[in-house]
Amino acid sequence: MHIARSIPELKQVLAALRASGKRIAFVPTMGNLHAGHRQLMETARRHADAVVASIYVNPLQFGPQEDFSAYPRTYGADRTVLEAAGVELLFYPDDAVMYPRGREASTRVEVPGVSDILCGVSRPGHFSGVATVVHRLFRLVAPDVALFGKKDYQQLLVIRLMAADFGLPIEIVGVDTVREPDGLALSSRNAYLTPAERRVAPRLYATLQAAAGQIRDGAVAADSGRIEADAATALAAAGLRPDYVGIRRQQDLAAPGPGDRQLVVLAAAWLGRARLIDNLEVELKAVP
Ligand code: PAJ
Repeated sequence: MHIARSIPELKQVLAALRASGKRIAFVPTMGNLHAGHRQLMETARRHADAVVASIYVNPLQFGPQEDFSAYPRTYGADRTVLEAAGVELLFYPDDAVMYPRGREASTRVEVPGVSDILCGVSRPGHFSGVATVVHRLFRLVAPDVALFGKKDYQQLLVIRLMAADFGLPIEIVGVDTVREPDGLALSSRNAYLTPAERRVAPRLYATLQAAAGQIRDGAVAADSGRIEADAATALAAAGLRPDYVGIRRQQDLAAPGPGDRQLVVLAAAWLGRARLIDNLEVELKAVP
């Protein structure tokens, strides 16, 4: 595996890959890699001839009170994971490479509307930080296809819209969430959970499944507020502190109308010092 720490090194390896006619897939990460990230690398390999990954804990997407310094950094282990996954090139930049004019002075990318709802309400600036770093990575790597997890459903939509608005010729692929056997979505932030909290954490997914069942059974447009409220109550009863539960349309995360059939129920909740997010897609059958 090639490791590029600077832009000239990155460009050199990319040029060689392109010269040999390879279709390039790109998987950006913040490291601390787990089976969810591995799934992205494997799916990437099916979409392309060469996989490029990046590891960069992007300061721009963390709020002032958030866990930027505590975020787990496990570069040695990550490298082994990427090598085993057959990744051709790892881009591992530092702040000076990513934001040469300083992170505060750098040009930012905003995707209004979709960035301001759900997670955007309690994490102002987060999606702008994500869109900014992913835009810069897209321009540097210029992949044919890029892969993102559906676990971060709102992030996936922000990136799709950003790529479309800039006319970037990059296919964006969403990959299903990888879970622990008890349903908990894999996340680097699960490491913040105490053993007791870890036993409670699967209640988040269980609550989403219950809400999805109610959505399938009923008239969503009329009932979605009640289902959301019941789910938030269930999370609180299980010992989590719900941030939001929302039933939305998959395509744009807007509130669903009576004719909408492709829905997603999303939730965020605090458990100890971890803020957990998860979601579940729900497809309603067409009414005959
Ligand atoms: P990170 O949290 O490291 O996640 C990297 C990618 O892995 C994202 O696309 C995320 O959705 C995906 N992922 C995380 N957990 C997953 C799981 N359990 N199943 C499937 N995919 C999963 O998301 C980021 O980094 C950053 O915001 C980034 C896009 C790299 C920009 O800084």
